[in-house]
Parts: sequence; structure tokens; C-alpha cells
Amino acid sequence: MDIETFTQKFESYSGLVLVFFIAVHLAGIFFAGINPDNFETYASNLHSNIFLPYFEIVLASTFLIHIFLTLKKVLKNRSSGNKAIIKTRRNDYLGVLASKIQPLTGIILASFLIIHILQLRFPRPIDNLELTFLKNKLEGGHILVLYSLASVSLFFHMVQGIESGHRSLGILNQSNSLNIRYISRFISTFIGISYLVMTFYLRFR
Ligand code: HEM
Repeated sequence: MDIETFTQKFESYSGLVLVFFIAVHLAGIFFAGINPDNFETYASNLHSNIFLPYFEIVLASTFLIHIFLTLKKVLKNRSSGNKAIIKTRRNDYLGVLASKIQPLTGIILASFLIIHILQLRFPRPIDNLELTFLKNKLEGGHILVLYSLASVSLFFHMVQGIESGHRSLGILNQSNSLNIRYISRFISTFIGISYLVMTFYLRFR
């Protein structure tokens, strides 16, 4: 395997790992909405887990590797004038739009993540007051706009990313391409809408 193929596969794996994290994170947020008391106990236990710092280092590295490799690919495609994907998707308006705005949705998500982590990780909420802390941090129209923008960007970013990730890994072929497209769009819609709804639910409940 040449270095370019390896890099492309690595970028796809990093994206798929992040989709997994985003799904687990959403499950935690649902839990917070459905059963706040048990969620506080679970969050306090999680924070005292000795493996958590290692998990956070792996997660932060995955985000950084994903951003670095994606930027590298975008710059390379720009310099070689690559329009192949757009051409083969002429009637797929959502796919074309998601692909066109992918650099923008990536920038929005990266900016959101910096603010989100500065708000909720440094410092970490005090034990048993995680949801009060979160509610306070979500105050202010500009923060709600930021979280809403991030949810919409996440939807578009995942529509493009999950499908192109499967293509780069060589999993996508003529017989399964439509199934992969529909399933990835279903997952992206569910995750995007859920983050949007939960932001407002946790803020105003
Ligand atoms: C409804 C929207 C969201 C809410 C309410 C929310 C809530 C939270 C909370 C409470 C924490 C702190 C966890 C802790 O106590 O350690 C956190 C951390 C984090 N969130 Fe979110 N989040 C949301 C959306 C997102 C999205 C869309 C992403 C990714 C694109 C994301 C990525 C992260 C990351 C990477 C961390 C740091 C994890 C760690 O270091 O432990 N969040 N979030």
C-alpha cells in the first residue's frame, strides 16, 4: 500500500471513530434528558475513572489527525482541480451541496469544538452539578445560534463524510452504494436533529 492510500484510509478511519464518539456522546445527552439524577451519578463516576484521561488523549489526537489529514486532502484536490466526485453526482443535490460546503462545515465544527471544550471541559463541571453548569453555559442567544449551526453542520458533514469514508476504504461498490447512502443519511439526519433538539431541551427544561 502506498503512502497516499494509507493516509486516505487513515483519514476515513479517524472520521468513522469520530462518528462513533458522536453517537456515544449523544446517548449520554439523551440519558441526561431522560434521567437527570442517575446521569449526575454516572457523570461523577466517569470523571473519577482512571482511564478517562487516556481516552481523552486518544480522542483529542483523533480529532487533530482527522482535521490535519482532511485539510491536506482538500488542499491537494484544489491544486489538482479535482471535480470527479461532483460530476458523478449530478442528480444528487444533497450530496453535491454537502460536498461543496464540506470545508465550511468543517471550519464551523472545529470552531464550535474549541468553544464547547473551553466551556465544558476546562474547567470540568463540579460533581453532581453537571446539568446546572450545562444549563448556565447554554444561556445567551449567541450560544444557542452556535450550537444550532454546529448541529446543522454536523448533519451536512456526516452526509458527505460517511459516504466518502466508505468509498476511500473500498467498501462502497455498485450494489451497496445506494444502501450506504440511505443509511448514512438516516444516521446523519437522526444525529443532527437530535443534537439540535437536545440543546434546546436541556437549556429550557
Ligand atoms: C446538544 C449538544 C451538546 C451538549 C449538550 C454537549 C454536552 C457536553 C458536556 C456536558 C460535556 C462535558 C463532559 C464532561 O463532563 O466531561 C461535553 C464534552 C465534549 N463534547 Fe459535547 N455536547 C454537545 C454537542 C457536541 C458535539 C456536536 C460534539 C462534536 C462534534 C461534541 C464533542 C464534545 C467533546 C469532544 C467533549 C470533550 C470530551 C471529554 O474530553 O471528555 N459535543 N459535551
